[in-house]
Amino acid sequence: MKILFLLGSSRAGGNTETLARRAAETLPADAEQRWLNLNDFPLPEFRDVRHTIRIPPAPTGHEKTLLDASLWATDIVIASPLYWYSVSAPVKQYLDYWSGWMYLPDTSFKPRMREKTLWGVSVAEELGMEEHLVGTLQRSANYLKMRWGGVLVGNGNRPDDVLNDASALVAAKSFFQTV
Ligand SMILES: Cc1cc2nc3c(=O)[nH]c(=O)nc-3n(C[C@H](O)[C@H](O)[C@H](O)COP(=O)(O)O)c2cc1C
Repeated sequence: MKILFLLGSSRAGGNTETLARRAAETLPADAEQRWLNLNDFPLPEFRDVRHTIRIPPAPTGHEKTLLDASLWATDIVIASPLYWYSVSAPVKQYLDYWSGWMYLPDTSFKPRMREKTLWGVSVAEELGMEEHLVGTLQRSANYLKMRWGGVLVGNGNRPDDVLNDASALVAAKSFFQTV
């Protein structure tokens, strides 16, 4: 098992990362974990070339890092705070790049994504408002025929608030147990 955690908060040490790290504590010792903060790998604005040149330019730099990490993983965990009832902008931009990677020659992005599981972790100030975030991730997984692991949701706003959300901490303990 190779798990890629993609952190999508726009601040360091946020609640979403804290909750994701709690969930990761229960992973088997032999599971390889890789943690990437999307803010450390900013992507240029996404360009849709499907109906012009069709094949996007070969990925380089941060894009290549994120593509290679995505292909490496058996499991991708999107750790996105709830921003305006949906995923954060860095997460959305990463997902947009999937639309280009599907067209890369010699990458087999779609068949390789089919072998993976997509998970989500999110923290929001107001609970019960995360259906669009969940829908974005779950429908994206469905589109690519990935397995769907579900979304672990916690409550918080100020850093470390989520440590007061007892039910989220309990849920974190069993989140990856369905693996
Ligand atoms: C740009 C922005 C948009 C937000 N939108 C929402 C929202 O729609 N619903 C909500 O409950 N909380 C919203 N919040 C609060 C965050 O979800 C909350 O602060 C959360 O803890 C942030 O995650 P982090 O601690 O991992 O950075 C927003 C915060 C920011 C900065």
